[in-house]
Amino acid sequence: MSAISWTEADETRTAAWHSENATPPPAEVHVADDRMKADTAYRLAAKGTALLWRGDFHNARQLLRAMDRRIREPRGSQGTPAQTFYRHRQYRGHRARVLGRLIVVLGDGYDLDLHRAPDVRQACTEAYGPSTGPVAVAFTELQGVLSAHQWREKGVHIPALDASVHPHYGVFSPIRGEYIDLVANAPLPDRTDTAFDGIAYDRVAFDLGTGTGVLAAVLARRGFDRVEATDVNPRALACARDNAERLGLADRIAATTTGLYPDGRADLVVCNPPWLPGRPVSAVEGGVYDPDAAMLNGFLTGLTEHLRPGGEGWLVLSDLAEHLGLRTRTDLLDAIASAGLTVAGRLETRPTHPGPERDPDLLADARRREVTSLWRLRPETA
Ligand SMILES: C[S@@+](CC[C@H](N)C(=O)[O-])C[C@H]1O[C@@H](n2cnc3c(N)ncnc32)[C@H](O)[C@@H]1O
Repeated sequence: MSAISWTEADETRTAAWHSENATPPPAEVHVADDRMKADTAYRLAAKGTALLWRGDFHNARQLLRAMDRRIREPRGSQGTPAQTFYRHRQYRGHRARVLGRLIVVLGDGYDLDLHRAPDVRQACTEAYGPSTGPVAVAFTELQGVLSAHQWREKGVHIPALDASVHPHYGVFSPIRGEYIDLVANAPLPDRTDTAFDGIAYDRVAFDLGTGTGVLAAVLARRGFDRVEATDVNPRALACARDNAERLGLADRIAATTTGLYPDGRADLVVCNPPWLPGRPVSAVEGGVYDPDAAMLNGFLTGLTEHLRPGGEGWLVLSDLAEHLGLRTRTDLLDAIASAGLTVAGRLETRPTHPGPERDPDLLADARRREVTSLWRLRPETA
């Protein structure tokens, strides 16, 4: 594990360093407290110096807000929409790096020894596992851990389940869940409603990239006897198992496969991949960005060999990438056709986006036009 070191009260000290987005440990660390001015903090952080916070917890939040105001995004769109979006991502990355240089040390057992600090022990244990000794983390990361803990406690209400799912730290959360109703209402492929060759058989569904397991739960509630849920993110698998247990569906949902497809075949394969092509820079972004469209293409090319006769694949996909110039509709239709699939139908919904005020015009405009579709796909030969 990597470590940071700093000088405090004439002593050299060290602590392990943890970063969820794989930020390397800062080489230079200054101790900072409530006396630090936002201009100084911003100047130091912008040139790469980490500020180890020893002041008041709430003042650290205020300092971050003041630093954030000093990081300006270039306005206006120049070049193609894809270039504008790329610049916006670069700005977001720069902002995350600068703000991530305000850091704290969590003591043994994740004890946070700052004035007016909340008890972060439970939240950190949920996110990181049991404490293995003092560890330094970005204050922004700790805020994410605390916020995830609150969502996990409170849950996200899912109308289609008439119940809540409880997202874990680092797992894609279905907060804007209009797409869930598509999966709850799309017509099931015929074969899943009838006996197979006159003999009753277990109806099986796969949920690829299950996240919280919300779609697996919807499928189990729709009558599938067994739902195999997969994800590349082990935290998602643990989260899906937790939710299946809470919803009383643990006997029908198995979430054990780290990867895309489980072995075998299903009557229905549902996949809600990250909807933007690009490289994720954090675990949560792994729900939004699909590098080289690997998941989308993996789902399409693997579908035929994982379907039972009469089965269908349901691709849930937002067209935001099309509005941002990152993918065309023709690209998608070509990928479907070259995987040997036909489109049996398409249902659509419009996602809602609260407060896009921080977005540049390009993104706000693209979000206003965004439509999420459920594509019903079948092998051409079926
Ligand atoms: C948009 S989220 C959808 C989560 C959940 N199915 C839902 O509808 O709320 C995409 C999920 O796919 C997972 N994922 C991304 N790439 C993957 C891959 N190559 N194989 C399996 N899962 C992947 C992510 O970890 C994330 O949980």
